[in-house]
Amino acid sequence: MGSLGSFQQTKSLSDIKNKKLLHYHGFIDGQWADAASGKTFDLIDPGTGEKLATFPEMGAADTARAIESASKAFKTWKTTSGRERGRMLRKWNDLCLENTEDFALIITLETGKPLYEARAEVIYACSFLEWFAGEAERTYGENIPTANRNQRLVTMKQPIGVVGCLMPWNYPMAMITRKASAAIAAGCTTIWKPAGETPLSAGAMAVLALEAGIPPGVIQIITSLTTVAEVGKEICTNKLVKKVSFTGSTRVGRLLMEQCAPTVKKLSLELGGNSPFIVFDDADVDVAVEAAVMAKFRNTGQTCVAANRIFVQAGIYDKFATALSNTISTFKIGPGTQDGVFVGPLTHENVLTKVLTHIEEAKSKGGKIILGGSRVDGTKGYYVHPTIITDMPRGTITERDEVFGPVIPLYKFHTEEEAIELANNVDVGLGAFVITSSMPRQWRVTEALEVGVVGVNIGLLSAAENPFGGVKQSGFGREGGRQGIDEYLILKSMFLNVATG
Ligand code: SIN
Repeated sequence: MGSLGSFQQTKSLSDIKNKKLLHYHGFIDGQWADAASGKTFDLIDPGTGEKLATFPEMGAADTARAIESASKAFKTWKTTSGRERGRMLRKWNDLCLENTEDFALIITLETGKPLYEARAEVIYACSFLEWFAGEAERTYGENIPTANRNQRLVTMKQPIGVVGCLMPWNYPMAMITRKASAAIAAGCTTIWKPAGETPLSAGAMAVLALEAGIPPGVIQIITSLTTVAEVGKEICTNKLVKKVSFTGSTRVGRLLMEQCAPTVKKLSLELGGNSPFIVFDDADVDVAVEAAVMAKFRNTGQTCVAANRIFVQAGIYDKFATALSNTISTFKIGPGTQDGVFVGPLTHENVLTKVLTHIEEAKSKGGKIILGGSRVDGTKGYYVHPTIITDMPRGTITERDEVFGPVIPLYKFHTEEEAIELANNVDVGLGAFVITSSMPRQWRVTEALEVGVVGVNIGLLSAAENPFGGVKQSGFGREGGRQGIDEYLILKSMFLNVATG
């Protein structure tokens, strides 16, 4: 394993150059706000286990106030043109890019991801701003030929109204832009509920959105950690909210569906997956290793599309395992601000516990740990050694639940049919990866996999232009792509009588 170094951050929030980005409050009705209850929670740096800041623990009353304000703001925001909104989004994009280093540091301190990766998140996040700046003025309707010669029929797309954006902690900037910038481009107003682990990024994003000219009422931020269920319930049950977009677990997704049912709210749900990564005998091993590293180590394995179940054909199994282990054993682990760190801590203590449970169960059922296999000692941060498990046993929790950490279980298979069967044998279906040199197989396997996005000889599935989303219990709705803005629009038809008048 590469050097562990000392587990100190080399930078802190005081190194943020643009101090106006730092707000330790929610944002309601155009004002930075404390919780009505006066309660607060601590934000923890997962790289050190130390406190970073204190935030308001907002509840249902704060949320209702934010929704009321967003609903008022919608009355005028919806009348702006797509061109006007697009210009503001473009300005917001430019301002965010100008502040890349500051955003990267905030993201690193909140999530633990290394600075190089946090910078990549800033670029990725901004790509949604740029994308939806363009889409804002492309919300075309149709002119539909009618059966009746005296009639004309056209459709138009209109913003749906107030949108609740419930964000995860793994991409605190990019998940805001993937949801909220699409909604804002469509002419909607938004309630942001950033994860309790990452409220700083949300505040900084709002500061620059306002500077770009987006009116205050269009964005409201509710910060909460332990009151998240109460806040989510208010967003889902409040009649003034017309749409909820959520990224998170299937369990919470089901609950939100139930809560949204009485008001018949439109929903987009991205509920994670348990991505298969299939390496066939005919794969180029270097391509397979590079893709596996990308698919597994982005954000230390904490992505909804991370490669979690690695199926390797028998003829290439040992070669791939050795090559992967040789590569991963060189990775430096440590706090994200240290030079050369490739693998940061997990963002949450609960995730650390879960990852260790997966490893222990695999070991107890016969899996062989050829690399890593334990928590990193000597630090309060949530670090786990990158882990490779060969002879991975069947029937473990890893098949039913995404591991969300740097653990690579290698399952052996023999035929293409077996690989497809294994890959599809889960209730979820978000991402999948196929590594093969055979073009017919690339098509066959892609078509057979029950998921929303497939990477072929590539380890990255995310791009603003991609309509990203899942099937089965991974949820529904698409984020990004030209489809992404439609999630925030309603389709209205107009029939015209042209026979009179
Ligand atoms: C996610 O984990 O939901 C986001 C992953 C990505 O956008 O790449």
